[in-house]
Amino acid sequence: MQPFAGEALDPPPIWLMRQAGRYLPEYRETRAKAGGFLDLCYSPALAAEVTLQPIRRYGFDAAILFADILLVPDALGQSVRFAEGEGPLLDPLRTAADLTRLSPTATRPKFERVFETVQRLRQDLPDETALIGFCGAPWTVATYMIEGRGSKDQAAARLFAYRDPDGFQKLMDVLVEASIEYLSGQVQAGADALQIFDTWAGSLPDDQFEKWVIHPTQRIVEAMHKQHPDVPVIGFPRGAQGSALWYVAETKVDGIGCDTAMPPYMMAEAFDGENVVVQGNLDPLLLVAGGEALKTRVGEILELMEGRPFIFNLGHGIVPETPPEHVADLVRWVRGGAQ
Ligand code: CP3
Repeated sequence: MQPFAGEALDPPPIWLMRQAGRYLPEYRETRAKAGGFLDLCYSPALAAEVTLQPIRRYGFDAAILFADILLVPDALGQSVRFAEGEGPLLDPLRTAADLTRLSPTATRPKFERVFETVQRLRQDLPDETALIGFCGAPWTVATYMIEGRGSKDQAAARLFAYRDPDGFQKLMDVLVEASIEYLSGQVQAGADALQIFDTWAGSLPDDQFEKWVIHPTQRIVEAMHKQHPDVPVIGFPRGAQGSALWYVAETKVDGIGCDTAMPPYMMAEAFDGENVVVQGNLDPLLLVAGGEALKTRVGEILELMEGRPFIFNLGHGIVPETPPEHVADLVRWVRGGAQ
């Protein structure tokens, strides 16, 4: 994939986390047709359609497979529901004994639906548009499995890991294996690059970060590099701050997704010599605000990252309130310079 060849591209490639989603009227229409959110994820025709919508509208350089990080626990048998206005709901895993509810050998039929979406996409996408597959990092996925829903501080998972590190390790092992199977299947079906979303990496102190963020990610990246040496893997350890450099050095990711808190001067300098492509990190709320403030910041990021291997992205996902025309402005400014 071109941006990973070690050269700076001018203009840099651009895609956005959550580029398919509720801010687009065509997404809302397809979503209504599908019924539930999971029905949409497991319908190859509809999931491919919503993946393509932002590509048609904006001509992004990459499409990201439409799916969700919680399909992995769902496929493992911890059924996931999405209640309107509540986000995801799962029957929480309280102790290691609850791990017997997971069936690591039963994932295939649900994963196959996603692989079929990837196959369709590879056929329907223009050759020059990269297709990014993804999974959630084991730590972040575990926070939802243990808490049973999204949470502010991931307290249930952090306490589980402190009280029963061996039991927590068993859960990590199940998730590492399932993630490898899931990502590998996406590559075989046609994904050109992969991203590992660790949305809650920032909630752990360094010793726990090493055990539950770095080690499991390292195992997944190593397996991908062995099985698919030409497929770059981007890590997104949201909130890792100063530990992002450590994460890059240890996990050997090919790309580092930077969140909004990472100062662009650090994005420009901290990873020099690490042989890693930097991706990020515009504030999604600036994309809601739009106008001059957006244009100015885009100009600053582009200027700081000039001459370095860089992928323009947000520091987190697009929010539903984003006016679609602001995304068009952003793409135009990134491609034409922000002067
Ligand atoms: O366009 C894309 O980026 C691809 C699709 C994608 C979705 N979720 C679709 C989605 C991706 C890459 C994800 C990743 C994901 N899912 C993460 C990691 C990235 C992040 O945002 O931090 C997490 C933590 C999840 C779990 C999840 N899925 C939550 C907490 C929610 C509810 C919050 C919300 O926005 O409603 C979801 C639902 C979800 N996943 C939606 C979309 C488009 C909205 C569902 C809807 O249409 O009602």
